[in-house]
Order: sequence, then structure tokens, then C-alpha cells
Amino acid sequence: MNETLVNQDELLKEFEEKIENEIKIEPRDWMPEEYRQHLIRQISQHAHSEVIGMQPEGNWISRAPSLRAKKILLAKIQDEGGHGLYLYSAAETLGVSRDQFIQWLHEGKAKYASVFNYPALNWADIGAIGWLVDGAAITNQVSLQRTSYGPYSRAMVRICKEESFHQRQGYEIMWKMMEGTKEQQQMAQDALNRWWWPALMMFGPHDSDSPHTSNAMKWKIKRESNDRLREKFINKTIPQAELIGLKVPDPALVKIGEDQYQHGDIDWTEFWEVIKGNGPCNQQRLEHHIKAHNNGSWVRECANEYHIKSNK
Ligand code: 3HC
Repeated sequence: MNETLVNQDELLKEFEEKIENEIKIEPRDWMPEEYRQHLIRQISQHAHSEVIGMQPEGNWISRAPSLRAKKILLAKIQDEGGHGLYLYSAAETLGVSRDQFIQWLHEGKAKYASVFNYPALNWADIGAIGWLVDGAAITNQVSLQRTSYGPYSRAMVRICKEESFHQRQGYEIMWKMMEGTKEQQQMAQDALNRWWWPALMMFGPHDSDSPHTSNAMKWKIKRESNDRLREKFINKTIPQAELIGLKVPDPALVKIGEDQYQHGDIDWTEFWEVIKGNGPCNQQRLEHHIKAHNNGSWVRECANEYHIKSNK
């Protein structure tokens, strides 16, 4: 066997031993090209999701019902932008530029979380997004803190510290509305009805239909499967709903134990249709991102110019 092949085998063995022994893979370490490409895809799409996710909530900053609510929403949205930057930085360590990620997004070659293609119709939606979308994101991201790729794992640790605030502020909005007028209670229930299933879809298709999960688990990129994380989220969230008088919109839901539930069928046709671009807001989200990116080009040019001059 020629030297290169022997060397490749040794490198692969060393990589697999690191994964086995919970040693983080770092940017300068040798890694299988498939592992690198898997991470480039997942981390960049995670970053896109954080940034595109700012849009549904951003529309409500000027309509927040109080100065306190406005300040909380502003802080949350600012956090999401920062999460996107941490994750683009982590993705860039794999050898692809941020400009390239953004280009793939604008060309429709990269995904972002399908949940952000639904409209935020009223203030109760801001509560439901924080409580359910950020609640689902926390369930996923707490698990991802143990991912095998160093920069991704460290980004997750930082992000998770802020996500809990995001989920609590959303739940507080829902709690306050359920203590309000009949109309406010109906708004909260309507928001739950519209955001519940898209939040469950955030965890991805069932494990049996997930083309990436087996590699993701083998390489310890994912530490828990899509279905396991979805189940954890459901079991945690249903008691929260019931505590404030909300009813989860799943007629087939069955309680199978203490804080343990079996959910009804998820509409995967809707999931794949939204991912394919046929959701309520896909076009608006992408057009807005492209417009904002182009409007911000002068900032990037000035920053680059300053960087060049200050490094002369
Ligand atoms: N939205 C859009 N696409 C999705 C999706 C979703 N909710 N779930 C799965 N997909 C896509 C996958 O990207 C993949 O397509 P691709 O090959 O073109 O990338 C395909 O469907 C098959 O799915 P798999 O389950 O096989 O793919 P993964 O193993 O990558 O699992 C995932 C999907 C669970 C989303 C995983 O990528 C992951 O954990 N990503 C990191 C977490 C993340 O991206 N969260 C998004 C929300 S961030 C957020 O909510 C911000 C918060 O602060 C508001």
C-alpha cells in the first residue's frame, strides 16, 4: 500500500480515536472531507437561521406594547444577530468565506430554519416565537454544546447562555396574555395553534427519514437524534402550556407517563413544501436579506479599507 494511503489510514485512525475519546476536533486538525463538508453545511445553515430569524420579530419592535417590552425585544434580536456572527466565524474556520456562505444563501443553495418562513401576525406571535422557537432552539443547542467540532461547541456554549432569556421572555408574554382579556387569551391560543407544528419541525425529519443523522451521530456532531430532541422539547413544553391555560393543538396527543407525551402525526408535506420555497414568507425573507446585505456593502467596504490602512 503506498505511503499516502498508509498515512491516510493513520490520520483517519487518529481522528476516530479523538472522536471516541471526546477530544475536540480543531480547525488545524486533519479531518475526513465528508466531516468537513457536513459541518460547513450545518453550521452555515445554523448561522443563516439566526440572522433570518431576526426578521419576524424585527417587524414588531416599533409595535411593542410597552417600553419594557420594546427593550426586551431589541435585546433579544440583537442577541440573534450576534449568534449568527459567532456561527459564521465558526463555519469560516472550515475554509469557506462568509461571502461564499451568503452567496449560497442568496442563490437558494443553502437552507435556513423553515420556521422563519411563517408570519408574525400579532404580539402573541412574539410570545410564541420566544417560548416555542427559542425553546426548541435551546433543546437542540444545549445538546450541540457537546458537538465534536471545537469552534462549534464553544459557540454553542456562548449562545446557550442567552437563549434561556429568549425563551423566558416569550413565555412571560404568553403568561401575561393568558391573565388578560378574553380576546388576549384567544390571541395567545391562536398563536400557539399556528406556531406549535412549525416548532416541532425545527428538529428535522424523523430519524428514519434523515439522510444526515447516521453520520452526524457517528462523528458526534449530533449527540441526540432529531426525534429524541423533539420528544424532550414536547415533554418540557406541554406542562408549561397547561400551567397557563393553553391547549396544545394536537388532538392525537397522548400522555404516556409523568411529563411524557406521544404526539400526533406531523405534516411532512408542509415541511418539505416550506423548505422548497413554498412557505408563506420565503420570498419576503430572502428579498429582505438580499436588500439589507446590499445596503450594508458600504459598511463592509469602509471596514475593509480601515483594516487595510491600519495594517500598513
Ligand atoms: N428547516 C430547514 N431545513 C431543515 C430543517 C428545518 N427545520 N430540518 C432539516 N432540514 C434539512 C436539512 O438541512 C437537510 O437538508 P440539506 O442536506 O440540504 O442541509 C434535510 O432537511 C435533511 O435533514 P437532516 O435531519 O438529515 O439534516 P441534519 O442532520 O442537518 O439535521 C438540524 C437538521 C436538526 C436542523 C441540524 O442541522 C441542526 O441541529 N442544526 C443546528 C441547529 C439549527 O440550525 N437550528 C435552526 C434554528 S436556529 C434558531 O432557532 C435561532 C433561535 O435563536 C431563534
